[in-house]
Amino acid sequence: MNITVVGSGKVGASAALNSCLRKLGDVLLLDIVKGLPQGEALDINHQLSELGIDCSVRGSNEYADMKGSDIIVLVAGVGRKPGMTRMDLLTTNANIIKEIATKIRSLVSRAIVIVVTNPVDPMTYLTLKLLGTGRSRVMGMGNMLDLSRFKSFIHEITGFSRGSISAMVIGEHGENMLPLPRFSSAAGIPLTTFLSPEQILTTLESTRKIAAEVISLKGATIHAPGNAIAAMIESIVRDRKSLIPVSALLDGEYGASDVCLGVPVILGANGIEKIVELELDSLEKDMFDRGVRSVKTAINELHV
Ligand code: NAI
Repeated sequence: MNITVVGSGKVGASAALNSCLRKLGDVLLLDIVKGLPQGEALDINHQLSELGIDCSVRGSNEYADMKGSDIIVLVAGVGRKPGMTRMDLLTTNANIIKEIATKIRSLVSRAIVIVVTNPVDPMTYLTLKLLGTGRSRVMGMGNMLDLSRFKSFIHEITGFSRGSISAMVIGEHGENMLPLPRFSSAAGIPLTTFLSPEQILTTLESTRKIAAEVISLKGATIHAPGNAIAAMIESIVRDRKSLIPVSALLDGEYGASDVCLGVPVILGANGIEKIVELELDSLEKDMFDRGVRSVKTAINELHV
């Protein structure tokens, strides 16, 4: 498999490394900064050599090199600074995505595209429209990262093995994120068996806010996003048909249309193979709909 990562900054490099650690294919790192993708490629290849992993990483500043890519990760753009929301990045990053989409349109015929640049839901919508690809082949990564944080809080409170915890987060990857305790469990046993209502509320709030805390502490989130991207790539490359949340173009699902938002999907070799609709209660639906309105407002500002 040929994987291209456009944007070789902190998250792009982490996505490349995590993809190689999972042995998913060869990776091309692209960036506009001369030397950066080449340097990251050398550094990662040195690690892979010691580990005996034969995936290879290349760095380039030439979009033409990505011809024939099977999977493309778009992670170019600016990240938020302490105090900013993801929506504050809308205009700046939309201009970057527009520039990249124009350059890669002729190179992505059969590729599956994973958008990571924030705010990820409007950026996924923008990419879909600019590339003109079907909705199964363009998706955003956001909730996969959110659920790894939700799982982490559940692990901290219960002390249970991380491997026995399963969690679901859907909705906007942003202020209206919707962690779903009703659809989360430890080995299939509902969370309410182990957590009080107050503890559940605390984990929900913490899941929504923790990214901002990481950014205030170290400037960016890096490792968990890189892993979340690689988990999505793995489901596609190995045709695992994992049930995981991704930002997808909705066409009536969850009562929304013409908007990208995080929903559970079956992810396989053909990209999004099915959107799974959950029965949301009124509070959950309210939060989901707030996400829809927020992303639609952002999309309107993009004039696509
Ligand atoms: P970074 O600043 O370390 O890297 C961004 C890279 O993009 C830079 O190397 C820059 O040169 C490159 N770039 C800018 N314009 C480009 C262009 N036209 N073509 C190719 N490369 C270009 O930023 P970081 O921390 O890696 O974050 C990247 C983006 O990912 C941000 O928008 C951030 O908010 C987002 N992000 C999204 C997450 C999610 O869950 N969806 C999680 C973490 C970050």
